Amino acid sequence: MLHDVNGTTTLTTNRPRSRRSDPKAVRRRVDSAGPAHRVLIADDQPSVRAALTRILVRQGLEVTEMSDGPSALATARAMLPDLVLLDGSMPGCDGYEVCRQLKSDSRTALIPVVIITGDDSVADRVRGAEVGADDFFTKPFDVTELTARVQAALRQKSLTDGLEPSDAVLFTLARVVEGRDAATEGHCSRLSALAGRLGERLQLPVRDRAALRRAGVVHDIGKIVVPDAVLLKRGPLTGDEWVLMRSHAAAGERICSPLRSFNDVLPIIRHHHERLDGSGYPDGLAGAAIPITARALQVVDVFDALTMIRPYKKALTTPEAFEVMDSEVRRGWWDPTVFGAFTTMIREDATDGPHSAD
Ligand SMILES: [Fe+2]
Repeated sequence: MLHDVNGTTTLTTNRPRSRRSDPKAVRRRVDSAGPAHRVLIADDQPSVRAALTRILVRQGLEVTEMSDGPSALATARAMLPDLVLLDGSMPGCDGYEVCRQLKSDSRTALIPVVIITGDDSVADRVRGAEVGADDFFTKPFDVTELTARVQAALRQKSLTDGLEPSDAVLFTLARVVEGRDAATEGHCSRLSALAGRLGERLQLPVRDRAALRRAGVVHDIGKIVVPDAVLLKRGPLTGDEWVLMRSHAAAGERICSPLRSFNDVLPIIRHHHERLDGSGYPDGLAGAAIPITARALQVVDVFDALTMIRPYKKALTTPEAFEVMDSEVRRGWWDPTVFGAFTTMIREDATDGPHSAD
């Protein structure tokens, strides 16, 4: 159903209402059968808002639209949505400034923010990383990709909502660490979603799947001990620099070890760079000695790294990435069963093929 109040629009479907109480302005526009997840869209182009709303409502989401930065900021603070999609360029204050302000306010800092841009420039991505954006999206929209990214962000938000404050601090720290390298932005959210789904596909116990989702976010938290000069170095690393870089696996385990809720996550953090043939680090574990959860996360991690654009390399397509990984499976690095399950899952995702909107 559609409600119009004061120039804003909220679209709802018949899904269970959010557990959090809404501010009055929103409550008037949402009936008692509102959806579980609420998305705030801010874009000054009505056609873009309409296209996004169409796509999101089809996913059963409740959408509130705003046409400029200041009203988006005020609405986000009032309604505390589960996801914010911001146009990078808007009147008043642009999406980057709205994002910066949301991320610097403890009440809104953990709401995932996706910046939408007209072009996929490195400068925009760097700017987005600087203000703490969780993900980027380029117009025109590919419906399949947009849907996947929105669902990943919402899964991330659900996970964060269920955390103890101490866990939430670690998650925030992990995002700060990720933010140091603008080229890897969004990596944690994608990994968390894909790793959780792969755990399901492998029929792992529920607690292993939950551990995989958490590990997707925090697995590289140990990079906090790696200096920028090494972490962001474009050229090949020296021997000493490699030692520092490799130390992130054990360092991450140390950082998370005081939290009892991370017990199942610690082996994934420590062993996500082991290889099946024993040539990985930090312990040189081989075969089944590497926890199955770590074997699952590393397949998703490698795939995401290969298909992600970097300043020094183009993003591989999915078939190209699978070809590279297949050769690495044959070299004895990755678990063939896990890799097979992962490729099947990704190919099934792509069955519908991309659709364009606007
Ligand atoms: Fe790592």
